[in-house]
Amino acid sequence: MASFDELRGRAAIVTGAAQGIGRTTAVTLAAHGMDVVLADLNDERGRRVEAEIARAGGRAVYVRADVGTMAGCERMVRAALDHFGGVYALVNNARWHPHELLADVTEADWDRSQAVLIKSHFMGCKLAIPHMIAGGGGAIVGISSAHALQASPTEGPYEAAKAAVTGLMRNVAVAYGPQGIRANSILPGGIMTDVKHEAAARAPTPELDARQARQNPIRRRGEAQDIANAVLYLVSDLASFVTGASLVVDGGMSIELPGSIASRS
Ligand SMILES: NC(=O)c1ccc[n+]([C@@H]2O[C@H](COP(=O)([O-])OP(=O)(O)OC[C@H]3O[C@@H](n4cnc5c(N)ncnc54)[C@H](O)[C@@H]3O)[C@@H](O)[C@H]2O)c1
Repeated sequence: MASFDELRGRAAIVTGAAQGIGRTTAVTLAAHGMDVVLADLNDERGRRVEAEIARAGGRAVYVRADVGTMAGCERMVRAALDHFGGVYALVNNARWHPHELLADVTEADWDRSQAVLIKSHFMGCKLAIPHMIAGGGGAIVGISSAHALQASPTEGPYEAAKAAVTGLMRNVAVAYGPQGIRANSILPGGIMTDVKHEAAARAPTPELDARQARQNPIRRRGEAQDIANAVLYLVSDLASFVTGASLVVDGGMSIELPGSIASRS
């Protein structure tokens, strides 16, 4: 059975850690002994996660960092070095993007979305990799999406960036594998998160929930913990021979033929 003992005392940076998949990932890594930098712009929720981890006996520090900027990425890497003495894992998870047909997307929103969704991965890697190498190795996880493989009309900026994440992680895997760094992508699909559960509690939608649960072979919606578990695996030594992979975590949603799904909805 996996003990994840090797993770104890290793530092991880999780971006977008104030809520959602980032929060659950940070809590999970901390529960397995990692020291976690929580990088986000939502101070209130970020501090809440920091306190939640401390209450559970873990170590985490919240840092206000706009990961769409080099200064923000520098701040989060600096926090890992100052508080925890190094950086072993980097989980690029933050997101911001418009939901519009491509012709309606402003240039400013395109630039901002790409800064947060993909340039942040470049900057985080650029800044963290030298410290990972100095520490003897590391693991990078890029949170991509099922949208890297499949498209919907109003998600052009998101889909372009999410496809780029998988390519960038393969590049890092090939370029830095010899120095002990592994880099992988996770492609989540249809994931419930803390904020989605909060919204559902305020305005329940049981029929929509049931329909979404029927949309994949596993017949339930994904939960943030499903993604956090995949991150835990990929940063752990259990995955020591896994690099450059694009791990789809969507209950099988993306592999079923549309006609097969339609027949039961
Ligand atoms: N939830 C899903 O169904 C789903 C499906 C596929 C992929 N994903 C991916 O998983 C990741 C997390 O998704 P989620 O649903 O938990 O997201 P979310 O929107 O709930 O949370 C995103 C977090 O990123 C933070 N953030 C936004 N801009 C930032 C910036 N410039 N700097 C720092 N932090 C910033 C926000 O404050 C927030 O805390 C995203 O990359 C998303 O694309 C999610």
